[in-house]
Amino acid sequence: MMVFGSLFAPAPMKWDGQMPESMAVGASHVDWVYYAIYYFSIFFQVVITGLMFYFVWKYKRRKGDKLETPPDLTRIEILWTVLPLFFIVILFHVGFKGYVKNAIAGDGAIEIRARGKQWLWEFEYANGMKENGKLVVPINRPVKMVMSSDDVIHSFYIPEFRIKKDVVPGMYSNVVFEANKLGPAHVFCTEYCGTSHSGMLADVNVVSQEEFDSYIKEGPRNPNCQDPNAACPADLKAKWGEQLYVSNACVTCHSRDGSKLVGPSFKGVYGRHEVLEGGEVDIDDNYIQESIRKPQAKIVKGYTNVVMPMIPLTDRQVEALVEYLKTIK
Ligand code: CUA
Repeated sequence: MMVFGSLFAPAPMKWDGQMPESMAVGASHVDWVYYAIYYFSIFFQVVITGLMFYFVWKYKRRKGDKLETPPDLTRIEILWTVLPLFFIVILFHVGFKGYVKNAIAGDGAIEIRARGKQWLWEFEYANGMKENGKLVVPINRPVKMVMSSDDVIHSFYIPEFRIKKDVVPGMYSNVVFEANKLGPAHVFCTEYCGTSHSGMLADVNVVSQEEFDSYIKEGPRNPNCQDPNAACPADLKAKWGEQLYVSNACVTCHSRDGSKLVGPSFKGVYGRHEVLEGGEVDIDDNYIQESIRKPQAKIVKGYTNVVMPMIPLTDRQVEALVEYLKTIK
């Protein structure tokens, strides 16, 4: 398998003590419960082990000791049963409040759909704009994620938002959050879902409302060519193509070094003479475009029992991908 992070290392995760940096409103409840349990455990670990050693020493058997039946200490037993109960009730109270915060959408919430498929995340916004491997959310606005799976069970996890929820085929599951810090965060899949489960990642970007509106209106742009009036040179297009190759998880099935993964390798793919199931082709822009839009139209010989997923790329993105494929010699 290829190593992902090496080429397009996503923004490194920042840490806040033992937890990733908190970037959403509900995160504080989760952290409170976590640290309460953590320090509670450390405190009683020290007290209980300390006392145990002390008593072992103090009450060790000495010459002339006689064995006596220990008395019943019902009161103490009741005490150490009831006292921790209060602690559990407090934990439940705070935990439940946090759970409700991450389950019920606040006023003015927007809906974003997330689809899990082996092995990528697709995000779709209210106006139909879609992008794979990248989730953009506005700051200080409740967001309801409506999640579904196209194949097996996945699990949607954004550590910075402290949300995690299973994504199950045949049903919708929801999770709610409100980001309160600008910047990058991360999506992980936390349910083992097959060969490339560990590569099923996505970037999150928390942006201002204006930036969010223009993003869903115009669709993804080449991040390497931001000036809309200047023509984008081929090498910068290729650079975006490479980023798309990773973020759309093409990398999980098509190698760059000639090794055979689930699909044919992309090494020297552009211009290659390929034998198909019932035909032959010299791979060019049209063939690549067709293979992305209609993956089952022309299948390379020997790959009939694997299904390439539909990847919803815009024309601009397909163009960038073609430029990139030209560079894999
Ligand atoms: Cu999807 Cu693991």
